[in-house]
Amino acid sequence: MFSLDSFSLEGKRAIVTGGTRGLCREIAQAYHDLGAQVVLWGRSGGAAEEMGAAGAPVWSVSCDLSQSGQIQRAMEESLEHLGGRLDILVNGAGLQHRAPALEFPEEQWRRIIEVNLTAMFLVSQQAGRLMCAQGSGRIINIASMCSFFGSVRIPAYSASKGGVAQLTKALSNEWAGQGVTVNAIAPGYMATELTRSIQETDPAQYDQITARIPMGRWGRPEDLQGLAVFLASPAAAYISGAVIPLDGGYLGK
Ligand SMILES: NC(=O)c1ccc[n+]([C@@H]2O[C@H](COP(=O)([O-])OP(=O)(O)OC[C@H]3O[C@@H](n4cnc5c(N)ncnc54)[C@H](O)[C@@H]3O)[C@@H](O)[C@H]2O)c1
Repeated sequence: MFSLDSFSLEGKRAIVTGGTRGLCREIAQAYHDLGAQVVLWGRSGGAAEEMGAAGAPVWSVSCDLSQSGQIQRAMEESLEHLGGRLDILVNGAGLQHRAPALEFPEEQWRRIIEVNLTAMFLVSQQAGRLMCAQGSGRIINIASMCSFFGSVRIPAYSASKGGVAQLTKALSNEWAGQGVTVNAIAPGYMATELTRSIQETDPAQYDQITARIPMGRWGRPEDLQGLAVFLASPAAAYISGAVIPLDGGYLGK
């Protein structure tokens, strides 16, 4: 008989990069609310205390993902908290810089590719080694609609998110047979710090975007929770290598 147990995360052990704010904070909150132990990776602490008042434990681990040398230490620290097991990894940290391609600074290009793509690979590699040895695991990457189209004035971001979609498939191809699913969520326009500058500096573009979204509104961080829980749960066991839009209908228009 099918039951809600298929969606249970009770007792699961998770790492959420970028989990200290924005979209991934809400994903981490949902995992915590459903009984998972969660380690939040961020550049600063604090969020774990707010989230972990009751229920399963939550920890913060600091890691600047633009410094690849910090990743192994952060993983070791996380696994100490989680008792050496890891069921779920959400690769959510990401950053953005807007400038026309003709003027786009090389330094910003390198930083965005490093955090959005290279760090995602390196964190996944560490998690993948453990999950493949365990014979189970869920990796959920945060992609973007820019995994499908290039947009304008965000060349590094679009290149990185296109890479995230391909990395998701590449890792799935190698690891799905060992019980480790690798999928991506591709959010549409979500109201967070990352997109605040559009509303503030270009209200005309903001209105244009809103008008193109069939649901007529920007996404909210909590809109990601259902899909992030589903992909991490036993119910999603046969889904791997998928890049799933979550965009209020934007891509369909
Ligand atoms: N907001 C949107 O419209 C939107 C749309 C599609 C995809 N996304 C993606 O969702 C993810 C979360 O973005 P958000 O909208 O919540 O923005 P946000 O700016 O609120 O959160 C980004 C997170 O990434 C972390 N981060 C950035 N640079 C880091 C670094 N060097 N080291 C460690 N952590 C770092 C930040 O600390 C923060 O927790 C990102 O991958 C973003 O690309 C956002």
